[in-house]
Formats: sequence, structure tokens, C-alpha cells
Amino acid sequence: MGPQSGSPATHVAIRDVVKRYPGVLALDRVTVDVRRATVHALVGENGAGKSTLGKIVAGAVVPDGGTINVGGEPVSFHSPRDALSSGIALVHQEISLVPGLSVVDNVFLGIEPGHAGFVDRQAQRRRLRGLCDETGFSLEADRPVRELRLGEQQKVEIIRALARGVELIVFDEPTAALTREEAEQLHGVIRTLRDRGTTVIYVSHFLEEVLAIADAVSVLKDGHLVRTAPAAQETVDSLITGMLGRSLEATFPPKRRVPPDAPVVLRANNVTRRGVIEDVSLTVRAGEIVGVAGLVGSGRTELARVLFGADPRSAGHVEVAGRAVRIRSPREAVEHGVALVPEDRKGQGLVLQGTVLENITMAGLNSFTRLGFIRTAPEAAAAGSIAEQVELRPPQLDRPVATLSGGNQQKVVFARWLSCRPAVLIADEPTRGVDVGAKRTLYELLQSLAEEGMGVLLISSELEELTGLAHRIVVMRQGRLVSELPGDADEAQLLSAAFGESHREVTA
Ligand SMILES: Nc1ncnc2c1ncn2[C@@H]1O[C@H](COP(=O)(O)OP(=O)(O)OP(=O)(O)O)[C@@H](O)[C@H]1O
Ligand SMILES: [Mg+2]
Repeated sequence: MGPQSGSPATHVAIRDVVKRYPGVLALDRVTVDVRRATVHALVGENGAGKSTLGKIVAGAVVPDGGTINVGGEPVSFHSPRDALSSGIALVHQEISLVPGLSVVDNVFLGIEPGHAGFVDRQAQRRRLRGLCDETGFSLEADRPVRELRLGEQQKVEIIRALARGVELIVFDEPTAALTREEAEQLHGVIRTLRDRGTTVIYVSHFLEEVLAIADAVSVLKDGHLVRTAPAAQETVDSLITGMLGRSLEATFPPKRRVPPDAPVVLRANNVTRRGVIEDVSLTVRAGEIVGVAGLVGSGRTELARVLFGADPRSAGHVEVAGRAVRIRSPREAVEHGVALVPEDRKGQGLVLQGTVLENITMAGLNSFTRLGFIRTAPEAAAAGSIAEQVELRPPQLDRPVATLSGGNQQKVVFARWLSCRPAVLIADEPTRGVDVGAKRTLYELLQSLAEEGMGVLLISSELEELTGLAHRIVVMRQGRLVSELPGDADEAQLLSAAFGESHREVTA
């Protein structure tokens, strides 16, 4: 027993925990003390073992070795239900709500307070209102969950955990699917939870965010614990060095120049989808990275989907590499050389049961064979080299995608669209969930693809990602393109363009 494990402040004592998967040691004798009523962050590269550790604490994964004590008592969880009865819940990115049921029904599913066999709807509503007041969330009790944005669904998950009286919540990359404003709101909620005595284990790749919100940070690398330290003793650089085993000088590689005579590879003229995007005109030249900024709901993802043929357009036309094209489906988009890295990898990106090879070659299949799913040597070789370019870990093509860590799944999505060598790559939040080291790799990859002549339309909510990579940045607001700024615009300029007049009024 370690010297601190008897301390009353320790909520969860993780001792020498081991988890093996075929071919990988996901956790190798990891020991961490999580103190009560603190925010304890887990950081590390993609595949370091963060989710595995979080899932073990929350009963979703059973360890192969080691011990876990909760409140000084040894526990042995074999399911999330076991963990719940010890007051522990997991909120992860893959939402586990029932889409057809309302907010209130999801929150109280399985714990419905009532008497004489009747569900007391009034009491449930009161209780839901109380929990919303406590957290500052506003949720409509009767809205079916399927109508809510991902960020709102996540709030329902949090309220659901609180309604069960949990004392510890594991958040696995909770802000990866949230907007900047929603992420800030969630930080407020987490602080409130902590101040009222709840313990939080927090997994994130946003290191500034981790330092702002956490009391302690554990750094994992290749399944080992590197160290646990108070957040106040860490900096972004010290965390990166701990995670990667090396420092990272600059996040963004220097921008390459676009030749002034570079041809236009994508031209959108007055592209409209009634009620969603209005009259959007833009150009992307070969070698150019054009950033798209805007608040959530400003129409960025919708524009991407219309250009890719995933949603219909009601007016306007598109030219690819100087030719007018009709793109009415993603298949036609791919045929004309337009690719999309979608925002939501689970919903639109991946076939989780399929192997890495199958997922990578799915879009580019036509260039290898027109006869269907025939695995050929050149196909595998091409996929292998793309997997290497995106630094897939482990670099095995025959693994089911479901067994990859979250960030590595995102790399497979990226790899798939590179495999069809598009003239235009539309990338919608391409680095969500990707660790800082791998991000840098993807940035370099985007740049070198651009240098080879690809045009890139880059949608990102991380303003520094836009200013760090883009040659020009267009700003969307309420479905329209409202301004165009140079790639070296500062954050304040971008924000005021994104918020528009109303923002100036509010802040004046
Ligand atoms: N169900 C599984 N089957 C096989 N291997 C798995 C499974 N789940 C995770 N792994 C492997 O265990 C290791 C740790 O994965 P884990 O998901 O914990 O990483 P992570 O730190 O959360 O990474 P990320 O930042 O990408 O989400 C990885 O090598 C991963 O491929
Ligand atoms: Mg993970």
C-alpha cells in the first residue's frame, strides 16, 4: 500500500492496474490517487490508455490486474451498473441515450421516482428543473433527445448521472463535440460539481483547458503512468514533453506560398440551400488552404455537406478544376475529385466493424477496381502508406476500427479521404480528438498535399488552427459568407466578424 492510500481525501485509489488487449498492453501497472472533490485530468497521446483507465474506473472495462479502492473499500466492477452502485458514472462522446424518448424520460429511465406503481411525472419534472438550476443547463423536458444537438445530449447525460446521485463522473473528451461557448459552459458546470463535492476525472486533448480546470493531472504514455502532479506545477510545454517524450517547438509549420498563377480548383457560385445557406460564393486555388470560420449554426458544416453532395442545393453552381460539375451525391463528388472529412466520425465516417483496410479503401475503391470489394495487393500497399502518413497506431490494416483508440479512428477517416487523391479536400474539424503530436503531423500532411496541388477548405472552431494554417479565412454568419480575412488575421478580428454587429453592441 502506498503512503497516501489511507488518506481520507482519496476518493479512488488505483493500484498497479493492468489491461491487456491482443497485441497491446493498454495499461501497465498504473497507480493513481484521485482525491475527493477535485478535478483530476488524464492526458496522453492517442492510444496512451486514457479511455481504458476511465472505463475501468467506471466499470465499462474489467482490468486484468491491480486493485481499485473507492472510499477506502476494495471494489471489483464487472459492469457500469456495478460502478453506478458505488456512485461512479461515465460520460463519453458516444452518447448512450434513447433517441426516441424525451429528455425527462431519459434522465429518469430506470430510477423513476413514484409511488403505488405510478410514475410521478410532476415530481420528475420538479427534480429535472432542480438539476437544471444547479448546473445552469436549460433543457426542455419534453423534447425528444434525437432533436437535440450533440452538446445538448451530453448535458442530458450529465443530468442523468446527477439524478442517480453519483459522486464521481468520468468525462472522456467531453468538449470534443462542443462549441467553444458550450465548452466554457461545461467548465463552469464541472467547477460547480466539484465545489459541491463531486469528483471529476477529465480526459482531454485540449491542454490549456486541462490546466484551467484541473486540480491534478496524470500523464500517460504507452500505457505507463509518467507522473501525477498538481496542475499548478504543469505548463502546456511540460505536459507535451511528458506525453510525447519530446518537446514540440511550434504547433504550426510555416505556411507555404501559393503561386500567384495557381489555377482555381474549386469555385462555388451563389450556392444556396434554402433556409440553411444563402448565396455562398468562394474559390479555392491549387495549393491553397482556405479557412472557414463561424459560430456553431453559422452554416459551415451545412456548406461542406452541400458542396459534397450530401445535402441538395436549391441554387447556385460549382466548378471543379475549371469544369462545371453537377454534384448530387457524395459518389458524384468523389468522381469529380471532391472529398469530405466529416465532423462526426461515428455517424458519417466509419464502419466500426470493418477493418482499417476496408475503411481506408472504401472511398477510393473506384481507382482500384470497378468490380466491388476485391482486395488487391496495390490497394493494400497504398492503404499502408497512407496509414503511415497519418501515423496510425498501431499501424495494422487488419484490425477492426472499433478496437482503435478515439484519435486513431479519426486518423482512419482522414486516411480514407486521402486515398482517393482528391483535387479538393473539405475538412470539417479534422483534428478533433487527435493528440497534439499527431495534430502537428496532420497539419504537415495538409500542407504538403496542398503543395502538391490540392485545394483545401478547412472548417475549424479552433481559431488558432485557422490562423496557423490558412492562407485566407472566410467567415460565415447565419448561413451567409460575411467576410474574408487574410490568413494572418487575429482572433479578435475573426470573432467580431463571426459575431457581427450584435456582438459589438453586447460588448460596447
Ligand atoms: N476493445 C479493444 N480491443 C483491442 N484493443 C483496444 C481496445 N480498446 C482499446 N484498445 C487499445 O488499447 C490502447 C489504449 O487505448 P485507449 O482507447 O485507452 O487510448 P486513449 O488514450 O483513450 O487514446 P485517444 O486519445 O486516441 O482516445 C490502444 O492501443 C488501443 O488500440
Ligand atoms: Mg480515448
